[in-house]
Amino acid sequence: MASLADASAKDRPDEESRYKEWFALWRLTDLELWPDIPGRDACDIRAMTRQKGTAHEHQIIAATDDLGSMVGIGMLDLPQRDNRHSMGIDIRVHPEHRRRGAGRTIVNDAVRWAREDGRTKLSSFLEVPTGPVASHPSGPFARSQGFEATLFGNRRHLQLPVEPELLARLNGEVTQARGADEYRTMTFIAPWPEEYLEDQCEMQRRMSTDQPSGDALNEEEVWDASRVAETDDLLIAQEPTKLVAVAQHIASGRLVAFTEIVVSETRPTEAWQWQTLVLAQHRGHRLGLAVKVANLAFLSTVMPTARRVITGNAQENAPMIEVNDALGFEVVATGTYWQMSLNPPGSPSYKPTSRLRCIGRVVRHATVATSVSWLQKLAGG
Ligand SMILES: CC(C)(COP(=O)(O)OP(=O)(O)OC[C@H]1O[C@@H](n2cnc3c(N)ncnc32)[C@H](O)[C@@H]1OP(=O)(O)O)[C@@H](O)C(=O)NCCC(=O)NCCS
Repeated sequence: MASLADASAKDRPDEESRYKEWFALWRLTDLELWPDIPGRDACDIRAMTRQKGTAHEHQIIAATDDLGSMVGIGMLDLPQRDNRHSMGIDIRVHPEHRRRGAGRTIVNDAVRWAREDGRTKLSSFLEVPTGPVASHPSGPFARSQGFEATLFGNRRHLQLPVEPELLARLNGEVTQARGADEYRTMTFIAPWPEEYLEDQCEMQRRMSTDQPSGDALNEEEVWDASRVAETDDLLIAQEPTKLVAVAQHIASGRLVAFTEIVVSETRPTEAWQWQTLVLAQHRGHRLGLAVKVANLAFLSTVMPTARRVITGNAQENAPMIEVNDALGFEVVATGTYWQMSLNPPGSPSYKPTSRLRCIGRVVRHATVATSVSWLQKLAGG
């Protein structure tokens, strides 16, 4: 990854400095919400935008003022293999430039992009710490742009280390569960062992349909060896370590449950909980708890510096919340999934914003599309 960054800086110094400006705004807005959590780093996002994968394409865009300074940014997520009806967007505006139309400009550009790409839904997800949620601008902003809240959830944090007595008690629940002796748990660092490729693909397919999505048109994701390989490649470029715990049905040898935690040397105190799933026909044996307990024990050996696990759950996902409550996770934020239906191309309701009021005066706005082009090139590097 370092070599890609170096090559980019050497070959396109202006693009590199624009990416740094983009990332500085990303970081600033991250810290505004989560001052003590190191979020995504520059390498992480650069890897996503540069990946020439077949499953997702990520693009970064920016709204600039008349001097060319970035006042707002966006990151677009364009599913390629499935769910091609939708496009995801993360929108952030510099705190000193809010209420001047930058957010609207980003949304308008995203809408145009989505329509040109034949998408019919634009969606956005944001977690706001429980305290300021009522006064946060995201709600009124999203509604003013035509988004509707289609799914609510919560971010939860687990302080580490977990009390050994609690882990022992939960381990007891796992071993005494109905049919517990038909399963065993295993842990490893991703990539998954090749022999479990088909089990991995099947669980990823189920993951894409079994959890609440907030999208009425949500489709099952297409998973095969090439998608697994490009997911692994992205992880390598992003530089974190993924810890996986799985449950195996001993008689059949099939993997039937999994959970993942991601850690990074650059953020040694944080651990990010990723996906967890138990196949429907194997639910009711405390396997969700079993894999989570196993992965927490694994985490304490791989990254003993971790002080917090961060996760998010849809409010209606009662079984997952029950497991997290048992482990001691606490609610720290409200998450909202926003979705907008896009009218057919050419609809008169879409009016591109061409001017941005900035720093108290009306200025000519360098359109987002102008900024997009160099960012796209950077992503292609
Ligand atoms: C939400 C956010 C992106 C809005 O950006 P912005 O540039 O200030 O928004 P705009 O100036 O384009 O506002 C467009 C409309 O949204 C509504 N709006 C925006 N901020 C608002 C606020 N604080 N209170 C009430 N309405 C608000 C208004 O209707 C506004 O139109 P108006 O100014 O003509 O009344 C910005 O506050 C931000 O970056 N917040 C942190 C990250 C975030 O919440 N992202 C959004 C995820 S959905």
